Amino acid sequence: MNRTTLITLKTLTWIACISPFVMLVYEAVTNTLGPDPTSTITLTTGYNALLMLVLSLAITPLRLLSPRLSWLIKFRRLLGLFAFFYASLHLATYIGLYMNFDLSVFKTDITKRRFIIAGFAAYTLLVPLAATSTTWAIRKLGGKRWNRLHKLVYFAAICGIIHYWWQVKPGVKSPMNLTITLCVLLLSRPVLAYIQKVRARRAVAV
Ligand code: HEM
Repeated sequence: MNRTTLITLKTLTWIACISPFVMLVYEAVTNTLGPDPTSTITLTTGYNALLMLVLSLAITPLRLLSPRLSWLIKFRRLLGLFAFFYASLHLATYIGLYMNFDLSVFKTDITKRRFIIAGFAAYTLLVPLAATSTTWAIRKLGGKRWNRLHKLVYFAAICGIIHYWWQVKPGVKSPMNLTITLCVLLLSRPVLAYIQKVRARRAVAV
């Protein structure tokens, strides 16, 4: 992949990732967030946080599928950081607009409402990942430890999916697409790792 194509793709990814936020700002300014603006903001930020998290998890399986896709690694951090950005906005909306900054209500919610517990678990798992996303942190932790820590992303995504299912009304199936995608990605990891091992063994034998 040449430099110009990479820059173009990165710019397009940036535009795609930032556009839900730009749309929210536009709708807030023009007063078109709908009958329940707080809910619109919470649902949009929550959905995009989870979507970007799941998309970031697709990068490694795609790279394992074909060495020609190794350039995709440059997009994993971008997607992960945008997921954290939307998750932070989501939490800030909840604390600011739903709770009116009343942390005692938040404390009760966090112990009593199971979907909030799952959401909080997902967010808590994302914090160390975002904090160690810099090249400096990778160097400081060392590749092995950094990789082990970043396996937490799978648990964050699983908690996010549980949070999503527990939040929708009974019978609503909107979390299904992301759930299936996450399951496929999780199952593909060991399968692709095995295929890669077989390929490497064959290459040594030749
Ligand atoms: C302490 C952390 C969190 C709190 C308090 C929280 C709170 C909420 C609330 C109150 C809603 C429902 C909004 C409504 O019905 O108006 C919601 C929905 C949602 N949240 Fe969270 N959340 C948290 C963390 C997360 C994280 C980390 C993710 C993603 C990784 C996430 C993804 C979602 C999704 C996907 C929805 C449903 C969106 C939809 O129906 O389209 N949440 N959350």
